[in-house]
Amino acid sequence: MRGEKRKSAGTAIESAAAGYLKPWREVITPHKDVASGRYQQAEFAADLWQVHLGEGTDEYRDPVEFFRRTYLTQSLKSMLVGAVRRLAGKGGDPVVQLQTNFGGGKTHSMLALYHLFSGIAPTELAGIDAVMQEAEAKTLPAPRRVVLVGNKISPGNPVKKPDGTVIRTLWGELAWQLGGKKAFARIKADDEKATSPGDALRSGMGWHCSRGKGTLSLLLTAMMRMPVGIAG
Ligand SMILES: Nc1ncnc2c1ncn2[C@@H]1O[C@H](COP(=O)(O)OP(=O)(O)OP(=O)(O)O)[C@@H](O)[C@H]1O
Ligand SMILES: [Mg+2]
Repeated sequence: MRGEKRKSAGTAIESAAAGYLKPWREVITPHKDVASGRYQQAEFAADLWQVHLGEGTDEYRDPVEFFRRTYLTQSLKSMLVGAVRRLAGKGGDPVVQLQTNFGGGKTHSMLALYHLFSGIAPTELAGIDAVMQEAEAKTLPAPRRVVLVGNKISPGNPVKKPDGTVIRTLWGELAWQLGGKKAFARIKADDEKATSPGDALRSGMGWHCSRGKGTLSLLLTAMMRMPVGIAG
């Protein structure tokens, strides 16, 4: 009896939907690489760390290609406008928390910030003219970009940077990205013991900030809340 009821309810929903909802393939056309089945499953996932290392496909790695394939939603646009304003010292939020469901566009939003402040001219990026207009800016600042991806850093598996620096912790990675070997030296002892550097990190950051460069920090963790820090 219950099964019958469920069946008839299902039919009612299906017929009602079929009446005015078009199949998705008639509403949008997938990119050629997706439609042809050529696209690798692994390439679907936006990966901030991979992009930061200069790896991955052009769609994510190259700022021009990235924005060509990005749909500038209202919320993405207003986040970019806020970031341009903040880095130009004209308002904007210093910290932005990205909260969406899985696959809602958190990583894509961070990549958009990463590429927007890559030193490229705004005229080269699709859709960014509208962002510049709303932010009342003509040029894009080129801050130091810091990318921290929590699940890529493990004190048990130190990484060796191109300049030979060996890094174990999130703090070490932050210091090194901010100020290279010199900044890292300030917290080296803590990095080796995998302990928090406390105030030493702050003075290291102060040292960096006093050099007058803005910073865009993209912090991606395994948690649902992902803050983006934009220091003028
Ligand atoms: N505005 C957009 N324009 C074009 N593609 C987008 C946009 N937002 C997200 N995408 C794409 O949608 C997919 C899911 O987005 P993304 O990986 O950023 O979500 P997420 O919130 O980080 O997901 P997760 O919670 O799984 O980490 C990715 O392939 C991404 O490139
Ligand atoms: Mg993500």
